[in-house]
Amino acid sequence: MTIEKDLSLFHRHTFGMDVRAAYWAEYQSEQELTDLLQRFSDRSVLPIGSGSNMLFTKDFDGVLLHSSMCRAKALHETQDEVWIEAESGLIMDELIAQLADMDLRGMENLSHIPGTVGASVVQNVGAYGVEAKDVVKTVYALNRETMKVDELRAEDCWFGYRNSRFKSEWKDRYIVTRVIFCLFKEGHLCLDHGGLQSVFAGVDVDTLKANDVREAVIRIRRNKLPEVGEYGSAGSFFTNPVIMSSEFAKLQTLYPSVPHYDTSAGVKVPAAWLIEQSGCKGMQVGAARVWDKQPLVLVNTGGATSADVMLLAEQVQNRVKEQFGIDLTREVLYI
Ligand code: EPU
Repeated sequence: MTIEKDLSLFHRHTFGMDVRAAYWAEYQSEQELTDLLQRFSDRSVLPIGSGSNMLFTKDFDGVLLHSSMCRAKALHETQDEVWIEAESGLIMDELIAQLADMDLRGMENLSHIPGTVGASVVQNVGAYGVEAKDVVKTVYALNRETMKVDELRAEDCWFGYRNSRFKSEWKDRYIVTRVIFCLFKEGHLCLDHGGLQSVFAGVDVDTLKANDVREAVIRIRRNKLPEVGEYGSAGSFFTNPVIMSSEFAKLQTLYPSVPHYDTSAGVKVPAAWLIEQSGCKGMQVGAARVWDKQPLVLVNTGGATSADVMLLAEQVQNRVKEQFGIDLTREVLYI
């Protein structure tokens, strides 16, 4: 285990805010995590992976707990499936790259999503028609009440769109330490998303391998999203609003070309479209800017303060509300 005091967070999260944490503690095992929680029982603690979905609004006075548990192993194999157990600190994309090289299918659409295995289940990350929940079998998490590791079935984790029980009822109870993913040896490539459909139009899906889809996803992402390291950002700043069909019908009367996707919870309207239509593309506050190619992303063009980002986010929300009467919900966590 390592513990650092009064540490700059500039390189420890992706938004590039110049803030500090009172403590940064890394653990290499579930036992070390337990020890750290006991040692810092009088302080506020916050688990952090790659810090790719957070905005530090000020210095953090507590303990940031970072998993350095980074192993993955095959647990179980059938004729069709391989179950992989991955530890929470492993970078999700490193795992996906290895799986795609073995042509184990199911996670390739999540390629290049920043972040760690642990965060990916808390957040139920998703892209190009696939969500983490589609491949999660079991989650192991340290129960902070009992200090024991509990085995949690995927169906008990209440996965939803960018949501899980770990973000609500279980927020202060559990810290995810390991995840079992179920991958497939054949079939199971998901090409439903419009972007992938156009890349593979006319191609026989049976000839494709996980790496073909991974490469296509990476190309699409590079065209739309800021390169990690070039500009600070936390990916999508807002979630795509899901509205009632009656509300959507009114919107469609006014804007017949509004893109939309039907879901079991209602009609999903791309926030990027709403933001673009409200004239926010390229809008800037200080050094924080609405990304031109994908306006759902707010970027730090260099030296932005959290106040810049928060004001910009508020201005975007206000404009969308004024024009469409729709509330944009933040995906990024304010700390
Ligand atoms: N659009 C515009 N203008 C733009 C860009 C997009 O109007 O400048 C509209 C288009 O209609 C487009 C639609 O928005 O078809 C959807 O855009 P995109 O496919 O880029 O996806 P998204 O819904 O904006 C979501 C995820 C992304 C994920 C992509 C791809 C959320 C909050 N975001 O974005 O995830 O990569 O789908 O599947 O659901 C993230 O969570 O950080 C993230 C980047």
